[in-house]
Amino acid sequence: MKTGYVELGRAQQERWQTAYEQNPSLHGAEPSAAARWTAELFGAAGIDDVLELGAGQGRDALYLARQGFSVHATDFSEAALHQLRLDAQRDGLDDRVTAALHDVRDPLPPADATVGAVYANVLLNMAFSRAELRSLVNEIRRVLRPGGLFVYTVWSTEDRGYGKCSAIGDGLYAKDGFVGRFFDLDLVHELADRWELRGADGYTEDPHALWRVTQAKPHPVS
Ligand SMILES: C[S@@+](CC[C@H](N)C(=O)[O-])C[C@H]1O[C@@H](n2cnc3c(N)ncnc32)[C@H](O)[C@@H]1O
Repeated sequence: MKTGYVELGRAQQERWQTAYEQNPSLHGAEPSAAARWTAELFGAAGIDDVLELGAGQGRDALYLARQGFSVHATDFSEAALHQLRLDAQRDGLDDRVTAALHDVRDPLPPADATVGAVYANVLLNMAFSRAELRSLVNEIRRVLRPGGLFVYTVWSTEDRGYGKCSAIGDGLYAKDGFVGRFFDLDLVHELADRWELRGADGYTEDPHALWRVTQAKPHPVS
């Protein structure tokens, strides 16, 4: 399986691209429950800039921008980002939302310690190896300012799809051409190594059971 990850990633990118080309509102226009919760958290923490990874067509990026955040949204589907830019323009939010093509298996573009917060809704449970996940969270920690927050959501092993999709090895499952992983708390804790884990909360958003995880980049010890 490990040697197949490059091909798997490429196939998934095509799969997502096609899905977004076929549907200009694949995940709907309403923000996710996680985005609403995250806007409150980031606002209370005095954060004003958010890097969103796996932003799709931007339902959450646009919501966060409407709440006053400056959002840089990335995804590996150009079709999704095209829709995001159109919607941002339509809503007069293009001064607060930028969008760029980026595959999160590559290093993140921002310089060290320059980002206030990172947000990723239902991205980390996509077709990544555990090594790719560890390297992604290390990259996120690198770009965050000390004290900066990372909120992500992932499908949990409580999801009713867990065990029902076809297992393709290395903890990954496939359904309708999409590949993903279901997270247990051990994996959440593994990815919080060298972070301050602020919370791992289970919730449901039809039809999925998910974890919403909040972690902070620790301040350097003086
Ligand atoms: C379940 S969708 C969630 C989209 C968006 N966060 C939302 O909630 O509407 C997962 C997103 O992750 C993106 N994605 C998957 N693998 C990726 C990768 N390696 N790099 C960047 N984006 C990726 C897909 O294109 C898709 O937009």
